[in-house]
Amino acid sequence: MVYTDTHAHLDYPDYASDLDEVIKRASEAGVSKVITIGIGRDSIPRSLALCEKYPNLHAAVGVHPTALDALSLDEWEILEKAARHPKVVAIGETGLDYHRLPTEGADAYKKKQHDYFLHHLTLAKRMNKPVIVHCRDAYPDTLKILKAFGRFREEPGVMHCFASDPATAKEVFTLHYVISTGGVLTFKNAPGLRAVIAETPHDMLLLETDCPYLAPVPHRGKRNEPGYTRLVAEKLAEVWGMPLEDISRVTEANVKRVFGI
Ligand code: NI
Repeated sequence: MVYTDTHAHLDYPDYASDLDEVIKRASEAGVSKVITIGIGRDSIPRSLALCEKYPNLHAAVGVHPTALDALSLDEWEILEKAARHPKVVAIGETGLDYHRLPTEGADAYKKKQHDYFLHHLTLAKRMNKPVIVHCRDAYPDTLKILKAFGRFREEPGVMHCFASDPATAKEVFTLHYVISTGGVLTFKNAPGLRAVIAETPHDMLLLETDCPYLAPVPHRGKRNEPGYTRLVAEKLAEVWGMPLEDISRVTEANVKRVFGI
């Protein structure tokens, strides 16, 4: 049985000393593919270099909404060029994050997030690649932007680390975006998320870790890694009342449809 971790940050310093081991443990856990997210002028080339070194890694390239200074719009060409790399399967992560806004100039920063978001969507459309959307405390505005931009490909993208209610999930699916879920699904204090995932159509869900963050139980609070996707899959098997092999088959088909891998 195989799984894909559709959202990892393997270029982070957290893995500087033992990435070989981390990748090996992922393979041993059946996590046969990982999408590592390159965000910004330093993280993008690091992520592409990792993809060239490890055959089971793929990349997404973008600028994270909480760190827009990591690549200015004057440097956009760096992102455009990276998007053409053969192992790049998505654009992002991009989106809106109203949870962590600067105390000074919050409104200006929000506007900047909107502008970057549209830049990413335009690039994704031109490259015919899905977009990976980060959204925190900003679902109404995020959905408004996605709706206004329109469905630019059969599978326009994913709302990563989905954390909202069933009505919002329904709106996401209406726009033909899938959602992804990770370690939070295993948290004791997340019955609301499990209820949303229980109602999610089986062809609309991806697995992820968002590592190094949000490690699933029993590793909660520690460094996360792609191999733990397996623990998320096991929890999903419980939530959907399906054998693990069906979880593997269904989610892998979704990965193939959205990312082509
Ligand atoms: Ni991320």
